Parts: sequence; C-alpha cells; structure tokens
Amino acid sequence: MDLKDKILVLDFGSQYTQLIARRIREHKVYSEIFPFNASIDKIKAFAPKGIILSGSPSSIYDKKALLPDKEIFSLGVPVLGICYGMQLMAHCLGGKVAKAVKREYGRAELMIDDDTNLLKGIAKRCKMQDARCKRLVTRHSSLVTVVWMSHGDRIEKVPAGFKSIAHTDNSPIAAMADTGRNFFALQFHPEVVHTERGTDILRNLLFKICECKPTWTIKSFIDTAIEDIKGKVGNSGVVCAISGGVDSAVTSALIHKAIGKKLTCIFVDNGVLRTGEAKKVETTLKKNFHMNIICVDASERFLKKLKGITDPERKRKIIGNEFIRVFEENAKKLKNVRFLAQGTLYPDVIESVSFKGPSATIKSHHNVGGLLKYMRLKLIEPLRELFKDEVRVLGRELGMPEEIINRHPFPGPGLAIRIIGEVTRQRCDILRKADAIVLEEIKKAGLYVELWQAFAVLLPVKTVGVMGDERTYENVIAVRAVKSVDGMTADWAKLPYDVMGNISNRIINEVRGVNRVVYDISSKPPSTIEWE
Ligand code: XMP
Repeated sequence: MDLKDKILVLDFGSQYTQLIARRIREHKVYSEIFPFNASIDKIKAFAPKGIILSGSPSSIYDKKALLPDKEIFSLGVPVLGICYGMQLMAHCLGGKVAKAVKREYGRAELMIDDDTNLLKGIAKRCKMQDARCKRLVTRHSSLVTVVWMSHGDRIEKVPAGFKSIAHTDNSPIAAMADTGRNFFALQFHPEVVHTERGTDILRNLLFKICECKPTWTIKSFIDTAIEDIKGKVGNSGVVCAISGGVDSAVTSALIHKAIGKKLTCIFVDNGVLRTGEAKKVETTLKKNFHMNIICVDASERFLKKLKGITDPERKRKIIGNEFIRVFEENAKKLKNVRFLAQGTLYPDVIESVSFKGPSATIKSHHNVGGLLKYMRLKLIEPLRELFKDEVRVLGRELGMPEEIINRHPFPGPGLAIRIIGEVTRQRCDILRKADAIVLEEIKKAGLYVELWQAFAVLLPVKTVGVMGDERTYENVIAVRAVKSVDGMTADWAKLPYDVMGNISNRIINEVRGVNRVVYDISSKPPSTIEWE
C-alpha cells in the first residue's frame, strides 16, 4: 500500500494486537502488524511514522523474553509501548522492571500527573465538591480517568530521559514519557473499550505526536486496489471461486470493478449447501453486478463420494479434493486465464505470534493453492490488507446487498459436517428444511446480525415420539446459536424462549422425519461451534 502515513504495530503475542491495528485504522491511518522479531531492514522499508509495541502474555523476566531489534529506538520515529511493550522499553532503555506487589487486572483509576503530549485533554479536572475527587486529590492528582489494566510486572525506575506521567494505586508509574525522543509507554490498554478515553489517547499519538494525516479510507483503498489489479492483470483473465460468503463476493466485486468481463466466477454446488443458496448467489452477482458466473451443479458427484463416510475429517478431505477437481475442470475451459483470485484477509496473512491459532488449519481446505501449480496461475488477493469489518465496509461501498455482507460464516464442507454420521440426499433434505426454519425464525426475531452463527444439526439418533395417536421413532435436530467476535471463542446464545419454542414447533410440524428438537448450551472452549 503506497501511503505516506503508516503506523507499525510490533506483535509480542497480545490478544489485543489485532485490535490495536484496527483502532488505528478507525482513525483513517493505515497500520500493519509485524512479528516482534521483524528485521530492521523490513521495518525501515515499511517506513512507519510511529511504532507501537504490543502487550504480551510473557514476562520480560522470562528466559526467552521476546525482544525486538533494539535499533527501532534509533530510527527517529515516536514509539509507544503498551503493557509488556512498556516493560520492554524500560528494560531496553535502562530502566528497572519488577514484579508488581499485586497483580493489577481490570478497571483502575488512572491519576494523570502530566497532561501534556500523549495524555493531553484526556481527563477533566474533577470538581472539588465531588467526594470521589476529594479522595483522589488527596492522592496528589485531580486528573482522573478509568483505564483497563492487565499486568503482573511494573516499572520501578524509569529509564534516563523519561519521567512518570501517571499513576494508579498499584502502579506508581502507570505511564511514562521521554518527550525529547517522543517515546511513550502505558501500563494499561488504550485499545480496549473499557479504557474510557483510549481512543483519544491513540488520537493524540497519531495526529499530535506522529503527525499523521487521516488519509486511509475505503474509497482511497478502492482507487489504489483498482489501479493495482489493472496493472497486475493487464489483458489476461482472472478466475475466482465464489462460496456465497462475504469475502469471495467482495473480492469478485472489486476485481470486476477493475477489469469487468475479464473476470469469471465459478460457483460449485456441492450438494451440501443450504436451501436456495446456489440460486441466491447467482442472481445477486448477476443482477447487481452483471458478472460472468459459471454455476456448476456437482451435487451428484459429491454425494456419491460421500456415500458411507462418517468420519468428519474424511468428509472434509473428500469435499475439499472434489471441489478442486470440479473447479479445475471448469477453469481449464476458460481462455487466457492467468490469475486466480482469493478472498484472503489480513488476519490470515499476519505471520505473528498471536495469530498462529487453529484458524490457519480450519481454513486450509478452502485453499485452492494446488490449482496454481496445475494451471500455472498466479494468485491475486486484493483483500489481503483488510480486516473483516473493513471488508464489510468495502462491500457496502461497492453496492453489495446487506444479505451477503452480514451473512453468517458457513463452513466449506457445508451441511456434511452438520449431518452427524452418513451424508445422504435424504438426510441433507431433512437438515436443509430444519436449518431454513432456524434461520427464518432468528431473522424474524431480529437476532440474525447479533449472532455469529445459528444453524441446525442432524443427529444420528432416533427417539420415540407421539403424533396424533401414533407412536413415532424419528430423528433429532439440535439447534446451535452462538455469539462470538472471531470464531476462536464463542458463547452459546441465550435465545428468548418464545423464539426457541417457535423453532421447535415449526421443525417438528413442518419437517417430516423429525420428532424432537434440542438446544445446544455449550460454549467454545471446551466445545467447538460446529459439531464435527
Ligand atoms: P469450530 O467448529 O472449530 O469453528 O469452533 C470455528 C469457525 O470455523 C468454521 N469452520 C469451518 N470453516 N471449513 C470452514 O470453512 C471447515 O472445515 C470448518 N470447520 C469449522 C465454523 O463454522 C466457525 O465459524
């Protein structure tokens, strides 16, 4: 990205690293995350106007404490250390770090001792008649704000050139500054919403200290991306696999805006999609964007391969491999195709400590990377610098309907991993009908957008029921609805009883072959979101 004003976040493994980068982008300043040990040449080439050192689950005392190249302190750019980043600055620049007497976790009252520079305008002077204020003033400061702490170590002595600029009851040095070199450090987390004025602290850093201009917008991103795509692709064709999800839809819309009919999208119906999905994707992209789309009904092929298979990992492999075959057969028929487009997002790209989570393997089957070799295609990934919420903003800007923008994630192996046991056409039909009812009722109750995912699962057990005067012996459907921010952890959703009641009544009345509905009340961890 050819922008002048960029901020670099060095990642030491904090759960909040991604959040720091997003908060900066919310201020329209471009930011990227590099691993803590990124080489100084790579950092210099990025040419940041400021560097942020993230927090970390580890301690500066650890034998294998994570340390950056110390030359970052000689680049002449402002540096902000957050939490572990602060202890690291103290450690590298000649201060003293010690174990805190009391671990500080959660809400804390920060008393500001110097409200110039980074903490300028952050806290209002409280009124003397206010009891809380009186209490705090006796502790030598009348400038107070609420911050979010999470640390076990603390600074005992600031490095030469620094002075303490704020304290809490437990941390005599909760923030420090060396204004000569523009080095700042905070013991608390300005990036989390619980820090009342965190956004303003970051604003001071970006605009007053680093002197950035707010030039990073989705509109500017679109203009640059279109030029990039045109330049890269030239007169060649591009092929893109569409899944119906927001990432591939927005990828194709962006490329289409750049090169029009030179883009061909391929949508594969693998027989384990939800009701009406294939048609919906086709009509949306054709109607709204007039794209070239090839829809391949390969359901028979997939279901044949899945016959008799009950192991979830084998289901995943079969579907992944078959997808590649079908995609390849169809892509080969296209003339002059030299590029394969993928909806890779920034969190998939960041090679950092905190992102080496299970998501990398979860998504691996999506990867049509094998195709690159067979067809000698080059990869084009126009969203690889964006976070998911930015992709949604981009999609809206490109005219993508809300239905696609807000769509819940749907796994590549589709209903196959929600049908426990063997996948047959008949069992797919039962699940499809039940699943459609779950989604209809969730949408009717206005709950769809606040849920990460809601779906039905077909269990491999039969139970006894009674319908009319007859005894039945039929299938059980489990309903799953979860709230989550990124799918890595999730809470089961406390759906209103009447919504659960409607879902259950409708499924049992309308779906032949089901006589019982249960609700999944497990969170992740220790359970997962999907049942297989
Ligand atoms: P779990 O079940 O691991 O799911 O808690 C986390 C998120 O990943 C999705 N998921 C998959 N997505 N292929 C995919 O494309 C898969 O095999 C797969 N398994 C799980 C799941 O829907 C949830 O959003």
